[in-house]
Amino acid sequence: MKKERFDKIISNQFNISRKDARIAIRRGKGFVDGCVLKDPSAAVDIESEIVFDGKKLDYKKYVYILMNKPKGVLSASEDKRQKAVVDLVPLEFKRNGLFPVGRLDKDTTGLLIITNDGDFAHRVISPNKDVDKVYIATLDGTVTKDMEEAFLKGVVLADGTVCKSAKLEGMPNNKAKVTVSEGKYHQIKRMFGTVGLGVNELERRSIGDLCLPTDMQKGECKLLNDEEISLIFSKC
Ligand code: URA
Repeated sequence: MKKERFDKIISNQFNISRKDARIAIRRGKGFVDGCVLKDPSAAVDIESEIVFDGKKLDYKKYVYILMNKPKGVLSASEDKRQKAVVDLVPLEFKRNGLFPVGRLDKDTTGLLIITNDGDFAHRVISPNKDVDKVYIATLDGTVTKDMEEAFLKGVVLADGTVCKSAKLEGMPNNKAKVTVSEGKYHQIKRMFGTVGLGVNELERRSIGDLCLPTDMQKGECKLLNDEEISLIFSKC
């Protein structure tokens, strides 16, 4: 049985402070399996039937949120000065400890997963797990066959960092599709830098077999279900 303090559960699920949760619980607003529970420190099985302030909790400890990241927002849990991706998560999806799985640059758009599950994030990010990430880049020049071969061989970045083999496919209008299975800092922009191309726009389209839905507005979020999560690891 997974037990947690009652006030912690209420605070996490309703996105209220621990202090407010404690006060409300003491006032008799919390019920566990049909009985009022006024002790905020009581250890409660998170899978019991919990009702708070008249609302039944559908408790899920971990959440997996897919966001279509807009430009101009930091891939961070919070920031003192700038808007962070977790600020855009709707209240009903919020949990304590949310963070983005890997970072997209401030000016990069597209598929970003936000979660509070560290083990899951590690499986997605770790280069050893070989989860493909697909990006569409808009470039200031045209991709050549030599560049495609260089990416396939494994690019060496300006600072000597060796990248794993990547698939580069030139597209019309100076666009290109790049598939990488790692996530080094500014990796795509730095990889194109080694072949003399600048990146004007960058969008992440997929992680594993999980694709960015085409009908999602920038900044929109949705919860991933188990089937969608398993798509990320379908080739591992
Ligand atoms: N590579 C980059 O250069 N930027 C990103 O945001 C993601 C990958």
